[in-house]
Amino acid sequence: MKIAIVGAGYVGLSTGLGLASKKHLVICIDIDKEKIEKINRGILPIYEDGMEKLLKKHRGLNFKVSTDISDSKDAEIIFICVGTPTDEKGKMNLNYLKAAAKSTAGIIDKKHKTIVVKSTVLPGTTEEILLPIIEKESGKKVGKDFGLCSNPEFLREGAALKDFLGPDRIIIGEYDKKSGDILEKLYRDFNSPTIRTNIKTAEMIKMASNAFLSTKISFINEIGNICKKLEIDTYEVSRGIGYDKRIAPYFLDSGVGFGGSCFTKDIKSLIEKAREMNYDPKLLKSVTEINTLQKIIIIDLLTKKIGDLKNKKIVVLGLAFKAGTDDIREAPSIDIIRILLEKKARIHTFDPKAQDNMKKIFNEITYSKSAKEALDKADACLILTEWPEFTKLTDKDFSVMKNKTIIEGRRILDKGKVSNFEGICW
Ligand code: NAD
Ligand code: UGA
Repeated sequence: MKIAIVGAGYVGLSTGLGLASKKHLVICIDIDKEKIEKINRGILPIYEDGMEKLLKKHRGLNFKVSTDISDSKDAEIIFICVGTPTDEKGKMNLNYLKAAAKSTAGIIDKKHKTIVVKSTVLPGTTEEILLPIIEKESGKKVGKDFGLCSNPEFLREGAALKDFLGPDRIIIGEYDKKSGDILEKLYRDFNSPTIRTNIKTAEMIKMASNAFLSTKISFINEIGNICKKLEIDTYEVSRGIGYDKRIAPYFLDSGVGFGGSCFTKDIKSLIEKAREMNYDPKLLKSVTEINTLQKIIIIDLLTKKIGDLKNKKIVVLGLAFKAGTDDIREAPSIDIIRILLEKKARIHTFDPKAQDNMKKIFNEITYSKSAKEALDKADACLILTEWPEFTKLTDKDFSVMKNKTIIEGRRILDKGKVSNFEGICW
């Protein structure tokens, strides 16, 4: 099928290259000229396992990019994958989405097209906000001249392509049967359970999934904070409860809290939406409070161990919000570095992928070429990302520190290779 993708970010590129690998004809549209020029030269703007290989294989053949939406006039299905960040008040900013809806409307012609919203939005957004824009701008009628679906994306960064191509489920929220049938046909060889529902429900399924996953993390962090006081290893508790099929073993890793572009913003916007409707979402508010608390707890633990942080050399190992990505959006490392700077610590960091991104936020800290270089003469080390290479660190690597104080915010060190370290919740 002929597919257009509006927004060439994590979701847009995963969807575009994933569908190109399934032999569809794909064009990705983005307003960011620099990004499009890079992709045209074969350079990916993001780091994702397997993506470069697919770009090499399909670029110029059945995968193209452009800044001009009229290049996608032939498309039968148009996926809208632009960002939906939150503003300072936690409200979802729909400006990118509205602009994308407007430009997409401009290519609706006689040939039937199905517009699919893949960006994460609050229930009601597609039909109440985007549809009126599309109908007004195109002068066409949904259900008659064009189709409309919501098809939320559940991929994780670091495993984006794998998740896009092998999802646990496919959610199709359809305006009408024809639109749903067209989208289901596109996914027919994915072999994933498919749920067809209305648009508003599909939008809520996405919000509820992210809210539940972040709740699970804050739940285990709360248990972890209690375990720490009781001198119990939280990870053994997680293992013990995870065997219960109703609980499941996933998303029970306690630590420094969740980061990433989505959990934080999605939960904030759901809280805001609930408040607007005069409902006080107590559980969701606690989830975000616990997540903020984890960063304070790790600094408190550090201070308890080495005292005043002023002029102390503190090494932050890991800047990305999780391993396998160079994404630092909402990464716990950002808040922790901010607190360390307030306390006048000297900060040295190392991350195998995310340093360039972090340099755009913090200029005043030192970026090292390796963990070992960063650790030289350090007063303490905080481990904030579970990069596999950090799991290989041994006592020999830490021996260059002035004072061997190591605090894990992610559980990765091997007790057989490193002695004398402590975890935030273990
Ligand atoms: P991103 O910021 O990586 O990419 C968005 C892209 O859209 C950018 O390249 C931007 O230049 C482009 N854009 C903005 N306005 C545009 C317009 N009018 N026309 C064309 N392009 C435009 O965002 P992302 O991480 O891919 O997320 C996109 C959406 O998917 C968000 O709603 C997010 O919540 C959701 N989502 C993200 C993930 C993830 O892991 N990142 C997973 C599932 C869902
Ligand atoms: C998350 C969801 O897992 C995806 O399903 C969803 O599509 C996506 O958000 C989105 O909507 O953007 P992602 O943010 O890429 O994906 O990463 P996760 O693997 O979910 O991790 C999020 C954060 O939670 C990371 O900081 C991670 O370290 C942390 N985490 C995860 C924990 O602290 N403990 C865990 O047990 C699991």
